[in-house]
Amino acid sequence: MRTASSLLRLPDAIAAVPLPAPVAALELVGVSKFYGSTAALRDVSLRIDPGEVVALLGPSGAGKSTLFRCISRLAEADGGKVLITGQDIGALDRRALREQRQSIGLIFQQFNLVGRLTALANVLAGRLGHTATWRVVSRRFKHEDRQIALAALDHVRLLERAYQRADSLSGGQQQRVAIARVLAQQSRIVLADEPVASLDPASAENVLEVLRDIARERGIAVLCSLHQTDLARRHADRIVAVRAGRVVLDAPAKSVGLADIDAIYRGDTAADDLG
Ligand SMILES: Nc1ncnc2c1ncn2[C@@H]1O[C@H](COP(=O)(O)OP(=O)(O)OP(=O)(O)O)[C@@H](O)[C@H]1O
Ligand SMILES: [Mg+2]
Repeated sequence: MRTASSLLRLPDAIAAVPLPAPVAALELVGVSKFYGSTAALRDVSLRIDPGEVVALLGPSGAGKSTLFRCISRLAEADGGKVLITGQDIGALDRRALREQRQSIGLIFQQFNLVGRLTALANVLAGRLGHTATWRVVSRRFKHEDRQIALAALDHVRLLERAYQRADSLSGGQQQRVAIARVLAQQSRIVLADEPVASLDPASAENVLEVLRDIARERGIAVLCSLHQTDLARRHADRIVAVRAGRVVLDAPAKSVGLADIDAIYRGDTAADDLG
């Protein structure tokens, strides 16, 4: 019989092997993107672990939305690599890429819901990638998909609004429906481009709390661009700042002071013009 003490007596060579580093949910290595002579992103490297909320700060034109587009492959990076759970998305075939896309949930400033459909129908749209085409066409979602969608609405505290038209919900409620949709999609990474820019302060707080919740409870990695630096310092685990396409700060949110924030926004901030 193996006893605890015999297990502890490992040969030194084995005992010294370091544990492998946990795989990042999202990793960017030296990503660059040019629009003509404008360098929208320059050699951007960054890593986000499962369950981590990273706030992306930077002045207008710094490259935040471009970064989101390169990660979701809505735009092709000109250099560098994007790895999702360790897989280089540039090396995937079309089918694998479609599956990988499914693991990325997108949230935008303008909610992007279908206004005339109910909250529930909008959340069910997050199940499309998991659903046979005939079910989508005939709108006969499986019982299991409905259960997942209702649970997602419950998670963002909107179960009682499930059958209300999306365009009759408040802005904050609509954004929470969008979060429920990425939950139903079972995304591992959420990219939120200015998700609270159109909301009043209380709704903005609420939406960021929900994002932080889903990160902690579901192990989702959240990258969220914000213009309100105080919200970033309070709600994010880490702050990454870009200026003119470069990462100029990557630090735990608690360690970022007002002087650091000031430096992000001071001076010449436009993307580098190589012309
Ligand atoms: N499709 C495009 N064609 C040409 N230039 C572009 C394109 N998209 C972005 N750019 C340029 O790339 C740079 C970065 O733009 P981006 O939209 O990523 O900035 P941002 O940080 O999201 O700004 P904001 O805070 O205003 O949303 C800007 O100089 C912009 O003009
Ligand atoms: Mg933008």
